[in-house]
Amino acid sequence: LELLELSGGSLEQPKVVGIAVKDEGEDGLCASTSDREAYFVAFAGAVKAVAHMPVMVTGGFRSRKGMILALRAGELDVVGLGRPMIADPDIPKKLLSGESDHAPKPEAELDLFHIMSWFNLQLERLGDGLEPELALEGAAAAAAFAQLEEANLRRLMAFRSSVAA
Ligand SMILES: Cc1cc2nc3c(=O)[nH]c(=O)nc-3n(C[C@H](O)[C@H](O)[C@H](O)COP(=O)(O)O)c2cc1C
Repeated sequence: LELLELSGGSLEQPKVVGIAVKDEGEDGLCASTSDREAYFVAFAGAVKAVAHMPVMVTGGFRSRKGMILALRAGELDVVGLGRPMIADPDIPKKLLSGESDHAPKPEAELDLFHIMSWFNLQLERLGDGLEPELALEGAAAAAAFAQLEEANLRRLMAFRSSVAA
């Protein structure tokens, strides 16, 4: 194992849409954790203390300053970016060169229930070689993604039937 990534949350603790259901101790929403932006830095620090490989933390990093602080504090070895890279695939280059101080945060403008559809649709676009469509509205993204999911499911069912026949 060459790299350990801590990221994302789970269905029970969906931090990716800003919800924390369970008590998280030091990684909860206290001021010191919010200042450091990332969701799992206290946990990552504990993992890093015993890990024999570099530890990457993905989740919440949006400012160059926050990333540098976390790296300097020795809480992680590698900063991971999820949604910012979907909105702007070049953002790591811009942050490293100092051209940008902040990574984009389109989720801040979206309704909670539209967030995953919006990003999933942008991933579909990137996969098709297109640029992200930042002006896409949340409700439109949710409707389009539901259609896409349904079409995918139909294709899967048709494929299963053809294999079974
Ligand atoms: C559209 C979308 C799909 C994702 N899919 C997965 C996945 O399949 N597996 C996973 O571990 N995390 C997944 N994640 C979580 C991300 O890897 C990441 O942990 C999360 O977005 C928090 O990082 P960020 O604040 O930099 O976006 C997904 C996130 C988004 C927005």
